[in-house]
Amino acid sequence: MKGRIPESFINDLLARVDIVDVVTPRVDLKRAGREWRGLSPFTNEKTPSFYVSPAKQMYFDFSSGQNGNAIGFLMAYERLDFVEAVEELASQLGLEVPREGGRGGPSRKALEGPLEALSAAQRHFEAQLRRSQPAIDYLKQRGVDGGTAQAFGIGFAPDAWDSLAKQFRDPAPALEAGLLIAREDDPKRGCYDRFRNRLMFPIRDTRGRVIAFGGRTMGDDQAKYLNSPETELFHKGRQLYGLYEVRQAEPHPEQLFVVEGYMDVVGLARHGIRTAVATLGTATTADHLHLLFRTTRRVVFCFDGDAAGGRAAWKALEQALPTLGPGREVRFMFLPQGHDPDTLVAEGGPEAWEHALAEAQPLSRFLLDSLAADCDLTTPDGRAQLVSLAAPYVTRIEDSATRSAIVDALVPRSRLSRQDIELALRGGGRPRAEPAPQAGAPKRQKPVGRALQLLLEQPELAQGVGDLEELAQSQQPGIDLLVAVLDHFIEHPDSTAAGLIRGWPDAEQAHWLERLAQPQAMAPADPASELAEILARLRDRGRRLRVQTLLEAARHRDLSAGETAELRALTSARAQDQPRPAGGA
Ligand code: UTP
Ligand code: MN
Repeated sequence: MKGRIPESFINDLLARVDIVDVVTPRVDLKRAGREWRGLSPFTNEKTPSFYVSPAKQMYFDFSSGQNGNAIGFLMAYERLDFVEAVEELASQLGLEVPREGGRGGPSRKALEGPLEALSAAQRHFEAQLRRSQPAIDYLKQRGVDGGTAQAFGIGFAPDAWDSLAKQFRDPAPALEAGLLIAREDDPKRGCYDRFRNRLMFPIRDTRGRVIAFGGRTMGDDQAKYLNSPETELFHKGRQLYGLYEVRQAEPHPEQLFVVEGYMDVVGLARHGIRTAVATLGTATTADHLHLLFRTTRRVVFCFDGDAAGGRAAWKALEQALPTLGPGREVRFMFLPQGHDPDTLVAEGGPEAWEHALAEAQPLSRFLLDSLAADCDLTTPDGRAQLVSLAAPYVTRIEDSATRSAIVDALVPRSRLSRQDIELALRGGGRPRAEPAPQAGAPKRQKPVGRALQLLLEQPELAQGVGDLEELAQSQQPGIDLLVAVLDHFIEHPDSTAAGLIRGWPDAEQAHWLERLAQPQAMAPADPASELAEILARLRDRGRRLRVQTLLEAARHRDLSAGETAELRALTSARAQDQPRPAGGA
């Protein structure tokens, strides 16, 4: 079994490759100041908002909200998984990808057997469907035509114990893929078919490889649907049924519908709505959201109009909040009582779907309406309560446009001013992540965020910033991150923003760094002295706080000799290098 790719190799790879060389053959780029600019390859935009920064070794796509390093670009553009993108980059540079001995997940080689077994099973099930009149009749009765069945590769598993099992000379890969089950009581008796008398829906990964199946019973089985078990290839929470088929029909769909069932996806496609995907009997996960936003900018969740649908929608909302970014949109569509998407279009055709879609709620409305259900909006207290209930959700949204839409929606509901709402929201939750800096307004930015921005732009500024101890004492939000980033760039003078973010252990911080790395409209006039000034202010604040702590301690006890000396040094240092009063740091 092949092991993991060593981190050091990936870092080395990113250090050797120039992201501009990776993007140029794929996107038409023109110089734009410090960056290269072009039309986003991920959307159909008309004005270029796709940037590649040679200094940061990152790309930024403002139209789809994606950004990342050279590996991330290849993954998004070529729709590769991480390992494949690394292999692609390495082969461009003529490098062999090394593997750590035996540890980590299985290599592609090890998965080849199961993948072949799955693909053989898929062909077998399709062939069996052609021979089974009851299964064909069932599909017909459910309104699925031959073309649609074929597009989704629908098949049939006959009502037998070994219809599939006897197709394999070596059952091991099929066992591993979850297609067969071993007879535990007597291993010599071999394996039997997991799926029997079921209509088979192949689940394909984004590259079209069958990685699992869902099977709908044709009889009165307890389980209406039986899914492949979780395997190395198949993780329910990371897969969306129908995504491959959507991309085949429409590579850049304007929106994606997220529905609950296999038959919903198929039924919608049958009626010309080919942009639906389904979660596989699980609640929406963060992985789902990332997968969705890699394909589209607008995600429309479709749920039944009952209480269970409402709960599922709320879970989806909670997962969606942190993934919202510029240009990304989430809507919630609730279907008429007693309908699922499949029955709705079967009865009312695409018009019924359009009608329900027109009623879809933007995320802000769904959020506030749900929260308002617990508040009495006829009283000032109830209205204030709505704002404080909203606070913890709003703080999880990094996208300023979405946040602003929610504040707008709160104005009429709370009868408070925008300003009061913003204030209440700020007081309500934990300190929110810094919003992405808007072009041309660096002055209003918080010092830590601005310092990080300057460092990401020019990592060499970290050399010679001096002692980090006093900085760390300044207790500014984000100061630990700033110190750690300084530390990284001091230790790794050749690192870039991309290299820093890639290895960053904390996902939330990495995300903040990514946003801070976004290209600015105006280049800083004198980044070195701007950074020096910010650090001096932060240090001064650190010293003042330390002085306060020591003075406070002195009121209750005698200071040690060391503390007295420190206090003396601090007060004189402050007088020396801080000629003007510290402002707002
Ligand atoms: P539903 O029960 O809503 O089924 O389950 P459906 O899709 O409308 O099916 P039809 O129309 O009766 O054929 C929605 C989804 O939940 C998962 C499946 O992914 C299914 O498509 N599910 C449901 C299971 O995994 N197992 C089950 O027993 C039932
Ligand atoms: Mn159904």
